[in-house]
Amino acid sequence: MNLHAPALTKAQHFDEHASVFARDVIDDLSQQPKRLSPKYFYDAAGSELFEQITLLPEYYPTRTELTILRDRGRAISAIVPDGAALVEFGAGATTKVRLLLNECSFSAYVPVDISGDFLTAQANALRADFPGLDVHPVTADFTTPFVLPEAVSKMPKVGFFPGSTLGNFEPHEASAFLRSARGILGNGARMVIGVDLEKDERVLYKAYNDAAGVTARFNLNVLHRINRELGGNFDISAFMHRAIYNRDRHRIEMHLISKKALTARVLGRNFSFRPGESIHTESSYKYSLERFTALARGSGWTPLESWTDPAGMFSVHALVASE
Ligand code: AVJ
Repeated sequence: MNLHAPALTKAQHFDEHASVFARDVIDDLSQQPKRLSPKYFYDAAGSELFEQITLLPEYYPTRTELTILRDRGRAISAIVPDGAALVEFGAGATTKVRLLLNECSFSAYVPVDISGDFLTAQANALRADFPGLDVHPVTADFTTPFVLPEAVSKMPKVGFFPGSTLGNFEPHEASAFLRSARGILGNGARMVIGVDLEKDERVLYKAYNDAAGVTARFNLNVLHRINRELGGNFDISAFMHRAIYNRDRHRIEMHLISKKALTARVLGRNFSFRPGESIHTESSYKYSLERFTALARGSGWTPLESWTDPAGMFSVHALVASE
């Protein structure tokens, strides 16, 4: 993607995004087994459903991470150099970053997100509440290399990657992301990263199969989105949500299962489903403290400290760029 294209109109940006979505959907539904990327869950409806998920009694990660960030604010601020720039990979609700901004003495905040409109709204809200803070949003896909704004080039850097978004990456992608972040943030950089932990499988199962069915709606929304944005004709009532824990691979898998034989048409192509056939829509990897710190060490970072909640449900790690 071209990151420095101020001359592109909004419509052109829209076309670019729509065609990447179209290409990915066609490619991924042509695979055996079929799949879709979890990054396409988050249109306006999907983002709203995700916010509802974070409030579910069964979905512990968001509230647990917030508790850790709140309780360990002191210890986290101790690893933040004075006058640093906080670079957030992906920018959702501002609740978590506000905790860090309140606790630490940052000079600048650089939220990096693919959705420019969302970033602007978020940046304006933070500017109003933190008048001394320079906010420099960057519209970019944070999984690919991007350039930090010139204004923060001389400041120490602290990366922030909360929410266990890392869990959506395959292990080799997680390592590549950490290496890329190391390159973007530079020598001496720190990183604060939230990682969901392995635990009792029943707890994991319930977190992704909530009684109210919100996660099911969130999963099915990707088919609504294909119908809406790509003119697809998926019969959504013919699919059901399934989430299972894959113990060998340490990951929750979300699937959409076809209840019967059917064909869906998307952008002139036909995709046939057998009864019970799955579209793998998400993997959410769970780490032990040891497996995460080993991954970090192998990806250009030295672990400084790891914090968990008393029940050991979720972890927040402070890393420093290895020499
Ligand atoms: C945003 C990727 C951390 O894996 O728990 C929540 C997404 N999927 N319920 C997760 C999600 C189903 C979430 N992450």
